[in-house]
Amino acid sequence: MAPSILAADFAALGAAVAEAERGGADLIHVDVMDGHFVPNITVGPPVVRALHRVAKVPLDVHLMIASPDRYLDAFIDAGAAMLSVHVEALPHLQRAIAYIKSRGVQAGVALNPSTPAVALEEIAGDVDFVLVMSVNPGFGGQTFLPRSESKIRAVRRLLDQAGNHAPIEVDGGVDLTTVHGIAAAGAEIIVAGQAIFGSPDPPGMVRALREAAEAARAAGPR
Ligand code: DX5
Ligand code: ZN
Repeated sequence: MAPSILAADFAALGAAVAEAERGGADLIHVDVMDGHFVPNITVGPPVVRALHRVAKVPLDVHLMIASPDRYLDAFIDAGAAMLSVHVEALPHLQRAIAYIKSRGVQAGVALNPSTPAVALEEIAGDVDFVLVMSVNPGFGGQTFLPRSESKIRAVRRLLDQAGNHAPIEVDGGVDLTTVHGIAAAGAEIIVAGQAIFGSPDPPGMVRALREAAEAARAAGPR
């Protein structure tokens, strides 16, 4: 489980991280937006650095910015353990992925909802994880796009064909009603923002989402 602090109180991010960790969060998902690649602006390297000081679990930094290749060092130096870049934002995707890995950080490729899984074909053997967006990126609290489930299966097939066991991360509109379908489809890293931090009991919701995902996986693929 990777709680997204986008939905947390930005005046109390340290407390939000602690609550997520109390619920057993494996990662903290940090959404970086620049007002160009997506129509919203959030945080940059200084906030990642501050989170890195307080977080006990690794930071999973999702770059929703134009020209992300210009900022890889800044986010890696700030403490990102996982860094995802959008295929739609990078003409030289292979170079960015190779560079992130060369710096000892897990490299992920993110796909917008309208980007087909096949966009990964030439890079599928190189990635450490794939982030399937299940909403159009830019805002928390949006409605899950059901077509994401078949996208997850298609990405899994591509990775498997490349002999890559890299996990698939799913991000956007995940809650107790949508988590079963994505876990059954093969999502191994599950991001949730509003469902967790909009709940009266964030640690309890992290646990509940994890249990629901585990139950869906145990029931086997649909
Ligand atoms: C959306 C972000 C997500 C967002 C998910 O652009 O990439 O990580 O925080 O939020 P929820 O879970 O509220 O849809
Ligand atoms: Zn995200």
